[in-house]
Amino acid sequence: MTQSDPANKATPAAPAMTGLAGWIEARLPVISAFRAEYIDFRLPRNLNGLWNFGAILTVVLLLMLATGIFLAMNYTPTNAGAFLSVEAIDRQLAGGWLLRAMHMTGANLFLAALYVHLFRGLYYGSYKAPRELLWLSGLVLLVMVMATAFAGYMLPWGQMSYWGADVITKAVGAIPGIGPSLEHIMAGGDHLGDVFLHRFFVLHFLLAFLVVGVVGLHVTIVHVNGSNNPLGIEPRTPRDTVPFYPYYISKDLVGLIVFAMVFAALMFFWPNVLIEADNYTPADPMHTPADIEPEWYFLPFYGLLQSVPSKFGGLLASAASLLILFALPWLDRSPVRSMRFRPLCRIGLFGLVAAFILLAAAGKHHAQGGWLIVARLAGIYYFGYFLVLLPLVSRKEKTRPLPSSIAAAQGEH
Ligand code: HEM
Repeated sequence: MTQSDPANKATPAAPAMTGLAGWIEARLPVISAFRAEYIDFRLPRNLNGLWNFGAILTVVLLLMLATGIFLAMNYTPTNAGAFLSVEAIDRQLAGGWLLRAMHMTGANLFLAALYVHLFRGLYYGSYKAPRELLWLSGLVLLVMVMATAFAGYMLPWGQMSYWGADVITKAVGAIPGIGPSLEHIMAGGDHLGDVFLHRFFVLHFLLAFLVVGVVGLHVTIVHVNGSNNPLGIEPRTPRDTVPFYPYYISKDLVGLIVFAMVFAALMFFWPNVLIEADNYTPADPMHTPADIEPEWYFLPFYGLLQSVPSKFGGLLASAASLLILFALPWLDRSPVRSMRFRPLCRIGLFGLVAAFILLAAAGKHHAQGGWLIVARLAGIYYFGYFLVLLPLVSRKEKTRPLPSSIAAAQGEH
C-alpha cells in the first residue's frame, strides 16, 4: 500500500486549521504532515504483536540517548580514570546507579528487540519487493548498532572490555597485508590505553546519533511503501486497513507497557543476568581472564569466528554471515512473501534460528571438542539456508493458496 493507493483513501479530509496552528501550517505544513503520517496513516488491519517492535526500538533508542548523555557527563575516557569514573557513577552520583542500569539493560534489550524485529522481517518476507531499500536500511542500522554496542562495552574498561578489545584488534591484525597497520590504527598505538579509549568513546557517542538519523530514513521508507503484514499480501481496499490512530497507537502502547515491565524486572530483580561479572574487575593487561567471551548478542558471530581454523578465515565467515543478509531480497526467488504459505521454507527458517542459537552456544564454549563440530555444522546450515534453500529449493516449493484479501482472510466478505 502506498500513499496513492485506494487502500489509503478511506479517511475524510482534515478540517482547516485556524489560529497559531493555521499560521504555522500556512508557512510550514508540519501539522498536516504529522496528521497524514501518524494519525490518518492507514496500516493493514491484521498486524500482530511482532509489529510492535519498531516502536519499542524507537523508544529504547531515545532512552539510550537520554541516559547516555548524562553518563558521558560523568565519564573519563582514560586508562587510569575510566573504571574509577564508572564506579563513581554507580556509587557516588545521585541516581547514577539507575542511569547506568537503564543504559546497560537498555543495550541488552535493544539488541534482543532488534533480533526479534529482524526475524519478523525474515518470517513474513518483508525484505521482498517493494521493500528492498527498507530492508537494506535496517541492515545498515544493525551494523551501526552492533558497532555502537561494541564501542560502548569498551568504556567501563573492566577485564572483559580490555580482553574483548584485545581479541578484536588481533583478529583485525590477521587480515593479510593491511592487517597489522589496521590493528595499529584501531588500537591507537602499540598497546590498548588512553588513545584507544578516547577514540572508542567518541565513536560510541557519534554512532549513536548517526543511528537516529538512519532510523529517520528507515521509518520514512516504511511510510512510503506501507507496512507488510502476516499474510504478506498488499491491502486492496480500505476494508483491509485501519488508521494508525487510535488502533495502532493503542496497540503499540500495550506492547511498550509489556516491554517496560520486562525491562524493569530485569533491571531491578536480575541486574546480573546479562552482565559478565568479570567486567567489575579493572582492566589488567598482565592477567588474562579464564574465559574471554563477548556479550550474548555477539556469541553466534564469535562461534562462527572460532569454527574456522584460520583467524582471517573466521573473520571472513563472521563478516559474510552479516553481509549475506544484504543480498537476501535477491536470493529468495519465491513470489510468495509470508512463510505462513511456504511450508518447506518455514521449517528451513526455524532451522536457521536453531543454527543461530547453536552457534551462540558453541561460541560460549569456545567451539572446543564437540562444540567445534556443532559450530561447523550450524555454520554450514546458516549459509545453506541463504545460498541453497532460498534461491533453489524455494522455486520448486508448493506454496499454500493465498487469500483474496486481508478482510476475506478474517472472514469478511
Ligand atoms: C535502530 C534500529 C531500528 C529501529 C529503531 C527500527 C524501527 C522501525 C519502525 C518504527 C518500523 C515500523 C513499525 C514496525 O513495522 O515494526 C520498522 C519497520 C521495519 N523494519 Fe526496522 N528498525 C530498526 C532496525 C531494523 C533492522 C535491523 C531491520 C532488518 C534488517 C529492520 C527491518 C524493518 C522492516 C523490514 C520493516 C517493515 C516491516 C513490515 O512492514 O513488515 N529494521 N522499523
